[in-house]
Parts: sequence; structure tokens; C-alpha cells
Amino acid sequence: MHKIVVRGGRRLVGEVRVGGSKNAALPILFGGIVTGDVCVFTELPRVSDVLRALEILRCLGARICFLSGGAVRVDYSTVRSACPPAYLCSGIRGSTYLLGAMLTRFGRAVLPGAGGCDLGERPIDQHLLGFAGLGATARTVGESVTVEASLPLVGCEIALAMPSVGATANLMIAAAAAHGKTVIRNAAAEPHVAALADFLCAAGAQIEGVGTSCITVTGVPALHGVHHRIIPDMIEAGTYLCLGAACGGPVRVCAVCPEHLAALCDLLLQMGVRIEQGKDYVTASAPDGYCCANATTGPYPAFPTDLHPQLTALFAVADRNGEGSVTETVFSSRFRYAEELRRMGADVSVKGNTVKVTPKKLRAATLRAPDLRGGAALLIAALATNGKSEITNAAQIARGYEHLEQKLRGIGADVCIY
Ligand code: EPZ
Repeated sequence: MHKIVVRGGRRLVGEVRVGGSKNAALPILFGGIVTGDVCVFTELPRVSDVLRALEILRCLGARICFLSGGAVRVDYSTVRSACPPAYLCSGIRGSTYLLGAMLTRFGRAVLPGAGGCDLGERPIDQHLLGFAGLGATARTVGESVTVEASLPLVGCEIALAMPSVGATANLMIAAAAAHGKTVIRNAAAEPHVAALADFLCAAGAQIEGVGTSCITVTGVPALHGVHHRIIPDMIEAGTYLCLGAACGGPVRVCAVCPEHLAALCDLLLQMGVRIEQGKDYVTASAPDGYCCANATTGPYPAFPTDLHPQLTALFAVADRNGEGSVTETVFSSRFRYAEELRRMGADVSVKGNTVKVTPKKLRAATLRAPDLRGGAALLIAALATNGKSEITNAAQIARGYEHLEQKLRGIGADVCIY
């Protein structure tokens, strides 16, 4: 996927079946290395970041099999201690999980470099601090990081400087087979962190406190293979709910966990969007329009940073007066999408870590996706705006949105993906 052509301005109505969570799949796929066994995954999203993770595992010796019915079988027993290809690792942030997994399996892990969206500074100092606490030494040369330790790792107390999703996940993976107890304070509580813990526990790990800010891992001598279903992608679901509000709706997202979407739904209700929810679905519609609001992103269960750009786009195309704002507290610069919205005539200004938006009628334009969620925001704005827009660099959007053309057409969007 490199370009999306959108003929916007249509009312979108229908159902979207949400896929598995990219941000749960990545730590779980790499965490599976610790089992040294065979795992079978269902609901694994075929988004490019996940396919890239599978390719990294294959390069490390894992045997990958795409089973009929959509499940994926990974035999981790043949993974060997090696340096994964830099060109693959540098494309995704999730490759950082190789550090925790390879360290605890082999006593040595080399990460030639990690990628992911350009959201400002994205250091891994908290990951390395945690590995040091577990008895490892870290060496950084340019982009490449090597961590080594004699096995087994030794459990310890770690206090994270911020509730880092990546560090919490990486350290849970590393501590699962350590000797003794590891306590991770100021841990992240995102649903995809809990999903990783569920996977590790099903494989024999002993993890308590998941979903709180204090997670305790009691190391076990060995883990074993499991069958695991990836949880629904709350960010994909939230993106389609924003789209349903922006383009009238009703748009129903199915096969979701509504509780994961509570912060977004509360905000949409404040804006005058109609929300209806059931056991595994949420519906959004705004037949009479909606107004803007003020949101601040934060660690779960606060409003998720990964829905910040989409919310700004929703504000920009609102049909009622009144300024909206999004204050970003997680990443230092997640605002590159704002420049692209301004190409559509949007009244969007960034000051410090807050973006302010005054709704107005936008014009179709040629846009460039700056990153994954910024690209999703441009898609929302283009679908809500009359005329033909084009979004280039669309491969960014393919990293996290599975079957995009089929799902959009399924709710009546006029899109062509090239
Ligand atoms: C994960 O990134 C997600 N990526 C991001 O989703 C998501 O935005 C983020 O968590 C927050 O929820 C994946 O899961 C692959 P963090 P991660 O560690 O792990 C700072 C998407 O669109 N920090 O929670 O990198 C860091 O710089 C992507 O799907 C340190 O300073 O996020 C950031 O400012 C984008 N030192 C903040 O903490 C560290 O050692 C949060 O980072 C680690 C993090």
C-alpha cells in the first residue's frame, strides 16, 4: 500500500469487525521465544508490523506456519542466539522486545536498532535499567544495543520513571524465567500489557498485579507453548468510532472489549455523539452533528495517545462552533499530522504539547501520512470532506490497519488503495 484515493463527503454506515491488537501481538510474538516451544496464535492481525515481526522470528530460526482458518503456528524451539537483521528490526518499535526475550532464553540479546513512528525522543533507558537490575550488562554502540547476563537472571525491584508500555512488557518477558521475584513499580496497565501477562501465565509464568501500577513476577524454571487468542485492537476500534462520528454513522465496531474504549466513549458522549454498546460491540453516530471538547492523553485508562491524531481530525470537521484541544502528555512530538490537516484548510495550531482546533469546512487535498495514527487522522478528515483527496506514504497506515479497503468500503466509503 502506498497511496489511498478518497472521494469524501459520504455518510458512512455499517459494521466493522475489529482485528487483533497490533500492540498486543508484538510483545506476545517475541515473548514466545522464552517458551522454546510451539505456540499457536489466533486473531493475529495481518498488518505489516506483525508480518515483519514474523519475518524477524523466521530469520532467527523459528518455524512459522500459516494454518487454514487464519491461525499462525510458531515453533520457537529452533530459534537460535543470533543478531536479527537490522533492516527488519529498524522498521518496528516492537523489535525492542527481542532484548527481553533473547536475554532470558540465551543470556545474550543484540538489537541492531528499533524503529516505529517518529513521535519524538523514544529512548529505552528504562528497559536497560530493568535489565541491569536483573543482572545484565548493556552496551550501546550507535543504534545497536547488546545485553548479556549469566543465566538465570536474578529477580529484583524496578521502579520505572514513567509507566512505559514497552519497558513493562520487556521486563515481564525477561523476569518470567528469572530466579526469584521481580517487582515492577509504576508499571503500565494498558490492555495489551495485560494480554502479554495472560499469554505468559498460560505458558507457566507467575505474574500478579496485572492492570495495576505494581506487577510482581515470580520466576519459573521453564515456560511451555500455548494456544493464544490476540485481544481486539482498541485503537483500530476507536479509529472507526471516530470515523462513524465524523461521517454521520451509525458505525458499529464488533468483536471488541467496550471497557477498553471507555475514555473515548465518555469523550464522544460529551461531544454530543450518540454511543450505544453491547457485550462485544460499540456503535457511534452523529446524525445531528457534534461539538468539540478538550482532551488530555495519558497512560491507560486515560484517553489513549494513539487516538490523539484521530480526535483532532474529528474536531477539525465538526459542524458546530467551539474550539477543541488535545494535550499530549505521553510523547514529546506527535503533531506532524497537524501540518497535513492545514493543507485541507483546517484551523489547527500547536502550542507546546497542546493542539487547538477550530472547526471549519475543509477542502480535499493531497496529503502525506507522517506516521501510523497521523495517517489514520488524515483518512478520517478526507472521508468527511467533499471531493477527491489522496494520501501518500500510505504504507504507514498499513502498519496498523488490517483489510483497510474492505472495511472502509463495507461502511460505504469510496476509497481505492494502490
Ligand atoms: C507503545 O510504544 C506502543 N507501541 C505505542 O503505539 C503507544 O503509543 C505507546 O506504547 C504508549 O501507549 C507498541 O506497542 C509497539 P512507552 P512504547 O514505552 O512502548 C518514554 C502505535 O501507534 N520512554 O509507553 O514505545 C517514551 O519516550 C504506537 O501503535 C522513556 O523515556 O511507549 C515516551 O515518551 C505509537 N524511556 C513514553 O515514555 C523508556 O525506556 C511512553 O513510551 C521507555 C519509554
